[in-house]
Amino acid sequence: MSDNQKQTIFSGVQPSGKLTLGNYLGAIRNFPILQEEYNCIYCVVDMHAITVHQDPAALRRATLEVLAQYIACGLDPEKSILFIQSHVPAHAELAWVLNCFTMFGEASRMTQFKDKSAKHTDNVNVGLFTYPVLMAADILLYQANLVPVGVDQSQHIEICRDIAARFNNTHPGTFTMPTGYFPKAGEGAKVMSLADPAKKMSKSDENENGFILLMDKPEDIMRKFKRAVTDSDARIVMDPQEKPGVSNLIQIYALATGKTVAEVEAEFVGRGYGDFKPAVGEAVVELLRPIRERTEDLLKNKDYLEQVYTEGAQKAAYVARKTLDKVYRKVGFVKR
Ligand code: TRP
Repeated sequence: MSDNQKQTIFSGVQPSGKLTLGNYLGAIRNFPILQEEYNCIYCVVDMHAITVHQDPAALRRATLEVLAQYIACGLDPEKSILFIQSHVPAHAELAWVLNCFTMFGEASRMTQFKDKSAKHTDNVNVGLFTYPVLMAADILLYQANLVPVGVDQSQHIEICRDIAARFNNTHPGTFTMPTGYFPKAGEGAKVMSLADPAKKMSKSDENENGFILLMDKPEDIMRKFKRAVTDSDARIVMDPQEKPGVSNLIQIYALATGKTVAEVEAEFVGRGYGDFKPAVGEAVVELLRPIRERTEDLLKNKDYLEQVYTEGAQKAAYVARKTLDKVYRKVGFVKR
């Protein structure tokens, strides 16, 4: 398929620098495969990040860390566009126009805004409020067809579609209507916390035994798996209702080793958690080892990273500019 027949995938990632095993198994793992079949564009959303307090040095470091980790996970800068949001001014420019096509009421209904403003009561800023509008600009600038995100972002995809539809209604044929691409069950969609299998694995868990970071050292990974919460019935069988902790570990082990759930169950028949938990830990250590090592190498090679994000921003800006020009013309701005 030639590049212009391919559909476009766009995704934004927060520069937290801390990607978890859940992020990897739920989404990032599939990125290298997707880049063969789609035009893939991945953006580190540093502009979204400053809607909450950031330490400037930490933000800069985290932005590069995410980029390095994406490359280490198999994204190829020759095949996919990798860039930093603030390097492409069209994002801020389109966001302004889209602000004027977003209703106060619909933005007020966003649960992420409500949650974040409850959490950061000292900093309920307008950027937090228009966060979904900037996100819509990210997506619509590239005429993206598919947007891989976690389910927590589904409301933001909906408002993006509503804004696109409203704009297209007044100015037909401007934006491609994007669709959320949510990981399907069985694709490792949802990895749960090791400390509380009722919760999704998240780097913001206050119990750091609950999550595995891609950059965790082998001994930390082993310790966290050995402490993983299970149950008193020592059988290793998949039963998400009755045995959520064990089921989570089975899923992780299956994904890390490429085995099926049935194969994992068969492997551990008659064996206990004392065997199983370290086995999961070791499988994850081996899965993550090359990613961590490659990331560390890349972070030592700042020139290479700079080349990647500079070229990425050039390619992104070219596509984005075309959309922005069209939008500016449609709303009646004089051509500059
Ligand atoms: N809001 C997304 C998140 O927190 C990040 C994001 C910003 C994004 N812009 C995007 C995701 C565009 C997909 C497409 O995960």
